[in-house]
Amino acid sequence: MTVSCVRPMLLTDLAAVLAIEAQANPVPWQASDFRVFLRPPYPSENPDAGVDAGSPQAYGSGDPRHTLSGQMGWVWADPEVQGFACVVGAADEAELQAIAVARDHWSRGVASALMETLCAWARRNGLRTLHLEVREGNARAREFYARWGFAQAGRRPKYYRDNAEAALLLVKSL
Ligand SMILES: CC(C)(COP(=O)(O)OP(=O)(O)OC[C@H]1O[C@@H](n2cnc3c(N)ncnc32)[C@H](O)[C@@H]1OP(=O)(O)O)[C@@H](O)C(=O)NCCC(=O)NCCS
Repeated sequence: MTVSCVRPMLLTDLAAVLAIEAQANPVPWQASDFRVFLRPPYPSENPDAGVDAGSPQAYGSGDPRHTLSGQMGWVWADPEVQGFACVVGAADEAELQAIAVARDHWSRGVASALMETLCAWARRNGLRTLHLEVREGNARAREFYARWGFAQAGRRPKYYRDNAEAALLLVKSL
């Protein structure tokens, strides 16, 4: 699965993203949760326009050393959307807030392509660490993150309200 299928998440991707999220997450995000990660559709004559909408220039001085605070969403699409990821950047840290792949596309490298893209974006924007929370019982996601070099940085007991499951806090150096 190639990273060339990864592009910024557009308003027009929302229905497909919500369908994947509903399958993937026991407490799925709603449309309003994705709002800050969506970009307007690109003009058809310039498909690359807006690719850097998540760069520091979108948030302030344009100086990469300036504090970054922004959101970025991506989808993997060929052209149907089969996966997505959402990241928030603040100061020199990035937080992976959501990543999911349509179940019939698991084990094909879709999440890996998204991860490669978002790490490259974070590094380009001067972010040094990537953080996330994962359910302790989500063995598949934990294996995926371990393969990507994440290490456990903490554990929050009874963190998830739906089943009182613990959250593991993972971090990866960029
Ligand atoms: C966790 C999740 C995002 C992983 O997505 P994925 O697209 O299946 O992940 P990848 O394919 O990149 O990597 C996982 C597997 O594919 C294999 N793989 C990677 N690149 C590959 C390629 N080019 N061709 C074939 N297989 C490949 C990996 O070795 C790995 O193998 P395994 O499935 O046998 O363990 C997905 O299972 C998911 O959406 N889960 C539900 C949502 C979720 O839990 N999100 C995380 C919340 S914190």
